[in-house]
Amino acid sequence: MATRRDDAKSPQEKPVEALGEAEARSELARLAEVIARADTAYHQADAPEITDAEYDALKRRNAAIEARFAHLKRADSPSERVGARPAEGFGKIRHEQRMMSLGNAFETADVVDFVAQIRRYLGMAESDPLGFTAEPKIDGLSLSLLYEEGRLTQAATRGDGEVGENVTANARTIADIPQRLSGAPQRLEVRGEVYMSHDDFAELNARQSALGERTFANPRNAAAGSLRQLDPAITRARPLRFFAYAWGVLSAPLAETQYNAIARLGALGFQVNPLMRRCATLDEMLDAYREIEQRRATLGYDIDGVVYKVDDLALQARLGYRSTTPRWAIAHKFPAELAWTRLERIDIQVGRTGALSPVARLTPVTVGGVVVSNATLHNEDYIAGRDARGEPIREGRDIRAGDWVQVYRAGDVIPKIRDVDLSRRPPDAEPYRFPDTCPECGSAAIREEGDAVRRCTGGLVCPAQAVEKLKHFVSRAAFDIEGLGAKQIESLYRDGWIREPADIFTLQERFGAGPRQLKNREGWGEKSAANLFAAIEEKRRIPLRRLIFALGIRHVGESAAQLLAQHFGTWEALSEALDAADPEGGEAWERLTAIDGVGPVMARALVTAFHQEAERASIERLVSHLEIEPAERLGAPDSPIAGKTIVFTGTLERMTRAEAKARAEALGAKVSGSVSARTDLVVAGEGAGSKAAKAGELGVEVIDEAAWHDLVGAG
Ligand code: IVH
Repeated sequence: MATRRDDAKSPQEKPVEALGEAEARSELARLAEVIARADTAYHQADAPEITDAEYDALKRRNAAIEARFAHLKRADSPSERVGARPAEGFGKIRHEQRMMSLGNAFETADVVDFVAQIRRYLGMAESDPLGFTAEPKIDGLSLSLLYEEGRLTQAATRGDGEVGENVTANARTIADIPQRLSGAPQRLEVRGEVYMSHDDFAELNARQSALGERTFANPRNAAAGSLRQLDPAITRARPLRFFAYAWGVLSAPLAETQYNAIARLGALGFQVNPLMRRCATLDEMLDAYREIEQRRATLGYDIDGVVYKVDDLALQARLGYRSTTPRWAIAHKFPAELAWTRLERIDIQVGRTGALSPVARLTPVTVGGVVVSNATLHNEDYIAGRDARGEPIREGRDIRAGDWVQVYRAGDVIPKIRDVDLSRRPPDAEPYRFPDTCPECGSAAIREEGDAVRRCTGGLVCPAQAVEKLKHFVSRAAFDIEGLGAKQIESLYRDGWIREPADIFTLQERFGAGPRQLKNREGWGEKSAANLFAAIEEKRRIPLRRLIFALGIRHVGESAAQLLAQHFGTWEALSEALDAADPEGGEAWERLTAIDGVGPVMARALVTAFHQEAERASIERLVSHLEIEPAERLGAPDSPIAGKTIVFTGTLERMTRAEAKARAEALGAKVSGSVSARTDLVVAGEGAGSKAAKAGELGVEVIDEAAWHDLVGAG
């Protein structure tokens, strides 16, 4: 337990009944201060200075004095502080509509493609009008605000897009966020960005450093750190702002166009970005981009690009979403920020899948307001000055320790090295020799044919791989275990307390009582250990897609995990399919690789993981501790086509083939290119030929385009 402060010991003062008015006033002031300090120590430093019982006694005493002297209650009274000391972290909120991210365009050509793809998807000719809005992409963090009957009832961070953190009490402290709306739809979810201005950021950092508190690297980190404070009083003291740029749930439409919908949010009292404008042509979009880029330096807040959105909301609805991004919007990013510095040495880091990644250790340099001292060097070819096909990059210039290199950052991503200045190369600089053994475990590091990356062959024997796998396992999109982050994993792994994911679920059994206890480890205490055990307990029940992603199998990212979960439904079905599959071929392999979105590369990685004895045994040990939630079907449960296999043939008049396919998939159907006995439905457009005929022969139902629209309710 940390040392306790004298002034926060159990109250020794007079009983409340014996206090005079002046004493009560000064006692309330003292209690406000002591409780605020205890809150800060608890949340910010994660190092409580007083026990829960002492804390509760202080709060009770404060309430008792307030009850006796109501007129002395302070504006900053601890009894008014919502959720000042919740049992653990923030509550979770499931977004009714997923919060998506945006695809990126880095060059004009990408924007041209974006527009062309939309036209193609909608079956529009080059000459058909297609309007967009253009607006700054604010570099902050997104926030969802729910208004019911005109009152702000809930605020949530984006989180993983599906589940965010409940920051309602904090959002209420932000002046730009109206608490009440008049004339709004009965249910309205407003989405936008919380950010901090440059001036406020500088002032906050100055204040923090004067107080000896931590400073922030940039305004976005400051905004995120300030919004995600467990104590709303701290958020209140931070100058956060909010721009509204989108919406989620709506009980009635806001308008017919993006532009008017945002104008409506403005009229309701939200701050909306004054630089948003309408563009009728591609040229106007690019003009808007240049104009916003020019004004970037004097805006007073960070932006990192321009977002284009299809203006017509009916078209937005038709275009819909890919797995994580809308088809109707894109972020056109500003070029990366650059700086020159010296490369001191090259280190090798070993990742979760054994990849050896070269990291540049740099003389610290500021790039776009952030101090950078590490950057990625990608792989050995990149260092040598060639690409994956052996073609020269940087005109073949290699990179060596001691070189002057150009560093850049684009948005959020880790800094990279773009170029090297040969005129400043020290005469004794040696070409870099990429290691052929793993620097962590000494196993051979090999590079397979066609792979740009060299990998350690040590598997679970390699401590670096094991630790990285564990970090991935507890990360946010995977098991998301609160209180068990990278630092804790490293230390628990080092001491052998956690060696593989299954060990997390026996931690309490092994170290909850007895001679060696988690609560007695450095950095832990009674409360944090109990919290961790509770957080682990909570995750014994886990959705299938999270489990698949958490396994950290190569090529199986979040969206692949989701796809597999939706396809197989249960863990048993997935493992049976993988057990049966043999990359040499056969029916089970064919079925696996026929899944839309699972190519042979991913299938091979999955099968390898399941067939590799040690890895499989580790997975089985893990699964024995879990209750795995089956995945929901893709579409709405009452969709008439959920689970059916559909074939489109002939020309559709009212939507393109791509749109029809996306619609069918969104409703839970599988779209196939050929008719077989397994086909449930054939939609025959104009001029349908052999496929419709074959369906007839097989007795498969065939409907025309009008019947299709009736079936899926597409108007
Ligand atoms: S629209 C369905 N507009 O960028 C897409 N997003 O990289 C809804 N962002 O998660 C987002 N400024 O946090 C939109 N003017 C803007 C934005 C913006 C910043 C953020 C947002 C989003 C992220 C995607």
